[in-house]
Order: sequence, then C-alpha cells, then structure tokens
Amino acid sequence: MIDSASRTPPRRSRVLVADDTESIRVLFEKLLTNEGHQVISVEDGIAALDAVRLHRPDVILLDVGMPGIDGIEVCRQLKSDPITRLTPVVLVTGLSDLSDRIKGIEAGADDFLSKPVHPHELRARVASLSRMKHLTDALDSAETAFMALALTIEARDSTTNGHCERLASHASVLGRALGLPAEDLDALHRGGYLHDVGKVGVPDSVLLKPGPLTPVEFDLMKRHPDIGDMLCAPLQSLQNVRPIIRCHHERLNGSGYPQALKGDAVPLLAQIVGIVDVYDALTSKRPYRDALSHDEAARNLRDEVWQGKFAKAHVEAFFDTLKRAATLQGATLKTPSPSEKTGIPTA
Ligand SMILES: [Fe+2]
Repeated sequence: MIDSASRTPPRRSRVLVADDTESIRVLFEKLLTNEGHQVISVEDGIAALDAVRLHRPDVILLDVGMPGIDGIEVCRQLKSDPITRLTPVVLVTGLSDLSDRIKGIEAGADDFLSKPVHPHELRARVASLSRMKHLTDALDSAETAFMALALTIEARDSTTNGHCERLASHASVLGRALGLPAEDLDALHRGGYLHDVGKVGVPDSVLLKPGPLTPVEFDLMKRHPDIGDMLCAPLQSLQNVRPIIRCHHERLNGSGYPQALKGDAVPLLAQIVGIVDVYDALTSKRPYRDALSHDEAARNLRDEVWQGKFAKAHVEAFFDTLKRAATLQGATLKTPSPSEKTGIPTA
C-alpha cells in the first residue's frame, strides 16, 4: 500500500481518456478525478482527435482497440502534428499484445499501460507524464518569450521591418536546397528569428544611428552575438540555434566577428544565416541609402565570395532559390529603375 501522505502532491492536469468500453472510462474518470485532474472521456478515435483540438489535454490515454480510427493511428496523427507532438500519449493495450506495443512505439507513444490497469500505476503514470508536460510547456513559453523579444528588438528599428521573418524563410529555403536534414531546417527557421536577439544589449544610440558607426560604436554592436548566445544558453530547446546566434557574423576568411573564425570553424548553419542576413540588409532601405536592387545586392555578395567571406556554392544556391520563388510568383529579379529601388524579391 502506498502511503498517500508521502507522495508528492500530483499536479492537476487535463486528461483525455479514449476507450470504447464504458466501464473503463468510468473507472479511469473516477480514479483521476479523485487525484484532482480534469477528465474528458470519449468513446472512439475520431472523437479523441476532436477532443484534443477542442480541449488541448495535458495527457492522453488511448485504448488501442477502438472502432473507426484505432488508438495507434490517433497517436500517429497527434505525434505528426506540430501542435500536439509534445503532448504525452499513453496507449492502453492487452498485456500480451507485443505487436501493438511495437506499432505504438513506431507511432510515437510515450508510454503504455497494460489491461487490467492497476489504479496505482495509472495514477503514477499520469502524474509523471503530467509533470513532463508542464516542464515542456514552461520551455515552450520561454522560447516563445525569446521569439517575442527578438521581434521587439526588430520593432525598435523601423528600417528592419519583417527582417526576422524574411531571414527565417530564406534561411530554411536555402537549407532545404542544400539538402540539410529536418532538424537543421528547424534550427535555421528559429535562428532566422533569434539571430539578433543579443541586440537587446546594444544601446539605441548605436542600434538606431542613421549613419556609419564609429569604431567604438561598432565594438558595442559586435557584442550582440555573444550577448544573444549567453541569453539562450540556459534553454535546452535552443542549443541547436546557439551556433547561428553566436557565429552569424563570422566569415570564412576570418574577417568576421566576434571570434574571427576561419573556414570550417564557421558553423554551416551560421554561414547560411550570414548570407541571407547580408542579402536582406542590402535589399532593405536604410536612413542613409535606398534599398539595393537584387542585381546590385547579388554583385555585392559575389564580391564578398571573391574576397573569401562566403562559399560560392551556397551563395549561388541562394540566388537559385530566389529565382525559383520569383518564377513561381510570376515576378522578376531584374534591376528596377532608380525610382523603384525599394522592391525586395521574396523567397
Ligand atoms: Fe547580427
């Protein structure tokens, strides 16, 4: 017998129970409600998917053998949806159903319960997964706060409107063109938003100066990659984005900052964000100059390739992605007339 006084008080969560057997739904509901959880019960897979969309549960208990869509398919759909993939799913199976368990693992199930389910085991599983979900939510909130911070920094400078969103889009499109795996594309997308988060530590007088910076001001500006990296360091979910934040101003020939890294020492994802960052800066209007056309920006970037700052293959692959996107949109990347020098081709 477990001494209830010695247990950590369970976290109250919203639990979805999907089972076509009414007696099991009633039993689970009673046990979990007694623990302080809010329980939503449904009797088939389609109702389970609807309930997830409607109630956003913290933990989901799915019977494997339900009519219509079975528990394994419901699990597969939930785990392939970015909105629900981090919600813990427990599959309730027969004790000897090894093949169901293997299919469940492949579908992304987080845990299993065997029928007949022991009340203590049910309570312990739900309590543990509920704790995990709340931690995941906390991390998610922290990352969301960082994204909001990055956009707030962008909003400080009216000339960079939409810069983060364009970078996130261009960087992930270029990453895909270079054949990078999904986790790198995800890092590029988030890195596009967060690369300049360290500018929170750069004074307005420097960040918003409508003209070239003095050497002292430039030294202040050069601190933003390290500040951003330091801010993101405690967040486990941002570890794959940190090299982008820290190194997006490094250049292959060692002329970048903050560490003057050279060649392969510059992380590939940071090279990619570096290229699209420079292109976006060149094709955006500044207080002291018009936006450059695509052709002028391309000339500048090719010149930087010639100087050894960027890899030619990456820069040309980037131009190809812009060309493809412009073709799809029926647009052109040709040089506009001087009066039109605000157009920015989008990818
Ligand atoms: Fe930057």
